[in-house]
Order: sequence, then C-alpha cells, then structure tokens
Amino acid sequence: MRPVIVALDFENQQVVTDFLDQFPESEPVMVKVGMELFYEAGPSILRTLRERGLQIFLDLKLYDIPHTVEQAMRQLGRQGVAMVTVHAAGGAAMLAAARRGLDQGSRAAGVAPAKLLAITQLTSTTEAQMQAEQLVTADLPTTVAHLAQLAQANGADGVISSALEDPAIHAATSPDFLCVNPGIRLAADAVDDQKRVVTPARAAALGSNGLVVGRSITQAADPVAAYHQVLTEWERGK
Ligand code: C5P
Repeated sequence: MRPVIVALDFENQQVVTDFLDQFPESEPVMVKVGMELFYEAGPSILRTLRERGLQIFLDLKLYDIPHTVEQAMRQLGRQGVAMVTVHAAGGAAMLAAARRGLDQGSRAAGVAPAKLLAITQLTSTTEAQMQAEQLVTADLPTTVAHLAQLAQANGADGVISSALEDPAIHAATSPDFLCVNPGIRLAADAVDDQKRVVTPARAAALGSNGLVVGRSITQAADPVAAYHQVLTEWERGK
C-alpha cells in the first residue's frame, strides 16, 4: 500500500483521464474509486485504471444484510482491486460475510484478495452528532476503537477513521491492523464538509498507515505539486 491514496471523486471517466495525465508515468499513484465515479462509469473504470498500472482502493462502503453483502463482495473480489470497504456498524455477521464473499470472489478469479477495510465513523461526523443522532452514549474514540475490534475479530484487515482515533485503534488491535485515514487537509486548505481533519504530518505522527486525500489534491491549482507536498509532509511526520 502506498502512503497517499488519491480519491478520484470526479464526475466521469474523461475528467479522471485528464487528471491522471498530469502525473508522470514513472509515478503510479494509488487511487480511490468511490461511489460518484463508480456509479457513473461502472466496473470498466477499474480495468482502465489497472491498465494504467494503478493500484485501486474501491470505496463503495457496503452496508446491507449479510447475504447481500457476501454476494456483492464476491463480485468485487473478482475485480483485482487492492482494498474495499464496508461499514463496521453493519455488525459481526455482516463483516464476516463480507470477508467470505471477498475471498471467494478473488479465488474464483485467480487474483490476490483485496484488503477489507471497515468504516468506523465517517470523518464528517462529530462526537456530538454521533451521540445525538445515533444515540451512542460512549465517546468517539471509544466507539471507533470498539468498532475496530469488532471488525478485526470478523476478518477485516483494517479500518477507515479519522487519524485522531489512530492511537486508540492501534491500542485496541494487533500491530498489523491498518488505520487508513481520510479527512486530511494541508494547513492552508478549506475544511469543506469534513469535521475531524488532520494534516498529513500529524496523521503520520498519530500512527496512520495511509492517507486518503481528495480535494486537497484534486482541487489544487497544481495537483502533482499538492500530491508531492502531502508526501513530503507525511515523511516529515513519521
Ligand atoms: O476531498 P476529501 O479529501 O475530503 O475526500 C475524502 C475521501 O475519503 C472522500 O472520497 C470520502 O468519500 C472518503 N471518506 C471519508 N470519510 C470516511 C470514509 C471515506 O471522507 N470515513
């Protein structure tokens, strides 16, 4: 896994191609395909990205009954992507079903199994929102660490969380369990809809295993320079 994953939150394949063409071929970035792009471009976007030599994090955040998630993961497992996501709040049976489906799909297609990452709490959610809207009485780091343990016990390789919770997650899980962190902003950037934001250097210092960065890179005047700045800050924080 590369330390910086660029979120391709674009409206269609042409915009993606124009964006990626700015990066030199000698520098294959790891990319995230999320709902916006996948729902427009469909699975063929994955083939296009693979043909460019890019590793793919397919972030569709599955959350349904275990049987449906297992069947959906079986399809995703065939796609040869590096990482996929489910919501940890779907529970133990759903997480275990996701793992089963993913492994079956990748075995059937003869590709390496993707890492299964579980969303703990969205980085756009504050502790006050979580408590008021989800009626969760625990604090946010405790809730996230609990969901991380649940995810690990049911076959996940890691979680998606704010870097602010990485110390609590690492303390609650085994050393190889991954903390992948969105909600990353360079110091000068707008926060947008994100609430629990962290700079790349701070995330690295907090124990992050990888950053998911969207708008700080995609909306920058010079995306390649912004990507390098994120990498440099990441190295400085380690
Ligand atoms: O533009 P920005 O850097 O905020 O994008 C963050 C990316 O990470 C988005 O694609 C979003 O879907 C994703 N993400 C998130 N919080 C999570 C899980 C994923 O922001 N908990």
